[in-house]
Amino acid sequence: MKVCVVGTGYVGLTTGVSLAFLGHEVTCVDLDQEKVDMLRGGRCPIYEPGMEELLAEAAQNLTFTTSYAEGVPGADVVFVAVQTPSAPDGSPDLRYLRSAAESVAQSLDHEFTVVVNKSTVPIGSGNWVDAILRDSFATRTDRPENCEFSVASNPEFLREGNAIHDTLFPDRIVIGSDNPRALEVLNQLYRPLINQTFTPPSFQPRPDDTTAVPLVSTDLASAELIKYAANAFLALKISYVNEIGQLAGKVGADITEVARGIGLDQRIGSRFLEPGVGWGGSCFGKDTKALIATASEYKYDMPIVQAARDVNQRQREIAVERLQSELRILKGRKIGLLGVAFKPNTDDLRDSPALDIASLLVARGARVKLHDPIAGDRFRREYPEMAPHLSDTLDGVFDDCDAIVLVTKWAQYLELDWGKFVGLMRTPIVLDGRNVLDQERMERLGYKYIAMAG
Ligand code: UGA
Repeated sequence: MKVCVVGTGYVGLTTGVSLAFLGHEVTCVDLDQEKVDMLRGGRCPIYEPGMEELLAEAAQNLTFTTSYAEGVPGADVVFVAVQTPSAPDGSPDLRYLRSAAESVAQSLDHEFTVVVNKSTVPIGSGNWVDAILRDSFATRTDRPENCEFSVASNPEFLREGNAIHDTLFPDRIVIGSDNPRALEVLNQLYRPLINQTFTPPSFQPRPDDTTAVPLVSTDLASAELIKYAANAFLALKISYVNEIGQLAGKVGADITEVARGIGLDQRIGSRFLEPGVGWGGSCFGKDTKALIATASEYKYDMPIVQAARDVNQRQREIAVERLQSELRILKGRKIGLLGVAFKPNTDDLRDSPALDIASLLVARGARVKLHDPIAGDRFRREYPEMAPHLSDTLDGVFDDCDAIVLVTKWAQYLELDWGKFVGLMRTPIVLDGRNVLDQERMERLGYKYIAMAG
């Protein structure tokens, strides 16, 4: 099929490259000339393991352009995957989506095109995009005769850092539209994924338990709500284990054992029960906020989702309190933070716990040094005012340090030769912000180990 993808961020690029890999003819449109040039040269503007390899494997079916007129005409499906940043009141800013929809409508010419909202948009945005498309289409003097289009929602569930795996071997595919023909087109587009008939890329073999992928084919509003409901549930699952983790500390229970013990109940499930400094990233914070904002438009509050957010914020504060109760005085102390990215295998810094923890520490007079194996350059670019706190070397972080906080679960930190650094520290305290270090081993190496949770 002929596909156009508007926007080459995480979601758009992964969608475009994966669909091209599956054999569809894909044109990716992005207004950013620099990004388009990079992609044409086979280079990936974001850090995502495997993406450049997949880009190379799919190259013959992929075109990159800044022009809608090159991508939209003739397309069976147009995905709109532009950014929807949070506005100050928590609702997503839909300016980019509006202008993308207007531009798409100016180039539609096919007998039937499905326009898919791939960005995470508030419930009801499908109808809104439909109205924009129709208004913009109506202004055209060159309106083609035989040209129909319909809006659909196809939420994305990929995790950054696992984008290719999650796209090629998803737990489910959700499509929503009020037009059965649009659903049929998307069903056909995703056949190779649903039936798992494609040969996986060499670097991303098919997991043994993936045979076929369930398809949820539903109405527009339900598909939109599924996305928010899934993210809010994952966010509250993490906040829940963090809340229990704090109680575990107080009653003398071991949260690792508790999480294992509850996670083995198949109704609960063991994933996303890792306690620590909490969740960050572009999705959970934004989506829980947007869900609450949508609900409030209906004069409805969502105390469970709000509580997940509050607990998450509290975890960041607890990290600082732990350090304070250990060191007594934070003023003038040097605190090293390992990891700036919001999670491993990405250089994404959005809503990263490290940023909040660093700011809270600085506000209390501590000297902060941050390190990240990948996200350093991006940090310098995006947070120039905090750049002096960054250290390119681990020595620079540990040297004369009063406490280290493990913030991001990078493999490099888990495999670190911790014994080599202990002697550099003034007081060898380590706060395990991800509950992943072996306490006994750390103590044997001479560290004073502090857990985030019990
Ligand atoms: C999340 C969802 O997992 C995806 O399904 C969804 O598509 C995506 O948002 C989105 O809406 O675009 P992502 O933000 O990339 O994906 O990252 P996750 O792997 O979900 O991790 C989120 C945060 O939770 C990280 O800061 C991670 O460290 C933290 N986390 C995760 C925990 O603290 N504990 C856990 O047990 C799991």
